[in-house]
Amino acid sequence: MSARLSRLLLGLSCCLAGPSLAQAESGFEVADASREAYSRIHPDLPQAKSEEVFRGRGLFRQSWVIPPAKDIEIAGLGPLYNQISCLSCHPKNGRGQPPESPQQAMRSMLTRLSLPGEDEHGGPLPHPVYGGQLNEQGIPGVPGEGRVSVDYREEAIKLADGETVKLRKPVYTFVDPQYGPLPANILYSPRVGPSVFGLGLLEAVDEQTIRRLAEDGKRQGLQGHPNLVWDAERQRKVIGRFGLKANVATLKQQIAGAFIGDMGITSSLHAEENCSVSQAACKQAPSARQPELSDAQLDAVLLYLRLLQVPARRNTGDAMVLEGEKLFAEIGCTACHTPTLTTGDFPELPVLSKQTLHPYTDLLVHDMGEGLADGRPDYLAGGSEWRTPPLWGIGLVERINEHSYFLHDGRASNLTEAVLWHGGEALLSQKKFIGLPKMERLALIRFLESL
Ligand code: HEC
Ligand code: HEC
Repeated sequence: MSARLSRLLLGLSCCLAGPSLAQAESGFEVADASREAYSRIHPDLPQAKSEEVFRGRGLFRQSWVIPPAKDIEIAGLGPLYNQISCLSCHPKNGRGQPPESPQQAMRSMLTRLSLPGEDEHGGPLPHPVYGGQLNEQGIPGVPGEGRVSVDYREEAIKLADGETVKLRKPVYTFVDPQYGPLPANILYSPRVGPSVFGLGLLEAVDEQTIRRLAEDGKRQGLQGHPNLVWDAERQRKVIGRFGLKANVATLKQQIAGAFIGDMGITSSLHAEENCSVSQAACKQAPSARQPELSDAQLDAVLLYLRLLQVPARRNTGDAMVLEGEKLFAEIGCTACHTPTLTTGDFPELPVLSKQTLHPYTDLLVHDMGEGLADGRPDYLAGGSEWRTPPLWGIGLVERINEHSYFLHDGRASNLTEAVLWHGGEALLSQKKFIGLPKMERLALIRFLESL
């Protein structure tokens, strides 16, 4: 045990008095560590809103059905799609996982596609046939587009204390592409469905705050920057916040994008089914309605996701957790994983205004090195850049999602591996983590588990 940790243990009396569950600091922090902790809805709601929010929850959990079924509110799946419900990739509002073997299809993961170049707004250039995402499934009569299989190559990394950790490097192969071979220069990015709680808070952080975080980072020698993406509703570029490269402008556009891209459900933001010109059977398949998702339904899902609370930290009086929290700052993790932010004014939904949140993200994209690169740029996010993911609630993943796969493609099988994959701008932090005495390394992980 490090001298420092034993000092801490001796000085414990200072902290035992504190509650073991953190006091909720805002209406969005909820003292719940159960399997429902990612699914708690902000309680201060007018009656009219509470009906809407439960409708939104129903739509998020719903398995959608194939048209024609005109009178059914939940018809519209396909013709091409990845999964039949939002929940399949965001189980219990938490995170999905990669397939367990190369034979298994992706169940809670998808693969973004593009060609080198940019679309008219500077975003990724979709493949003319396959589009911007490989849809693995199709309704009867419409072949799914194919699948991506995942295998792993192990690489060992030695830590300063002599321990060796094996890291799994994913190797992807396109299997049975149904609409012609994919070109050799195809850019692709396999991504696991991330957790979806707390996103209203992230949306309510104002742009100025995000820009200031980038400037603070520059002073510390980092190159994190906001992504600037096309906002189809406001018809201009804004700071992107959603998606793993901060590649989407607003929560509403993220949701409408998921409905069309992941489930083949049209909405006022995406009026056309997700079929390219040469996908004839897809083109001919009937739609349920025009659009399949009404604006009222879209707004209900938006309200639901905006109002999902965040689990409060646990064991914050534990000496090891406190030690880990200190180390988290000392070795530079907080330079990107910003512990505390406040929201600005959010007139659309005032409960989100002026809230203090503990997301452990700066909402910026950072160069994470070649090891994590997907080589697929998305607006200003380069091929090795990723949005700092929020770490709130990460300590409950194992309980709620019954796995511990982390990072954008789930390659890390636990938190230690996730940290060891950090490179690029985070290389210095990663090196310091490797150099920690075992007890301090464990303390840092214990801190992550308290989030
Ligand atoms: C096939 C799996 C899959 C399905 C189905 C799916 N998602 Fe996702 N979701 C993802 C992935 C992967 C991402 C990250 C996307 C990216 O980086 O561009 C994501 C991102 C999101 C985000 C942004 C999270 C963040 O932290 O920025 C929201 C919100 C979201 N999805 C909502 C939905 C909704 C609503 C539905 C149902 C209409 C849905 N998703 C269906 C896989 C899925
Ligand atoms: C330069 C910015 C930066 C620094 C410094 C940094 N991180 Fe990260 N972190 C990221 C980004 C970006 C990702 C997402 C990478 C990916 O998914 O490929 C990430 C991912 C993670 C994840 C996995 C999260 C998830 O949802 O899967 C954990 C855990 C984590 N970081 C912990 C740490 C710790 C501990 C440190 C300090 C040793 C640290 N990070 C330092 C930017 C940073």
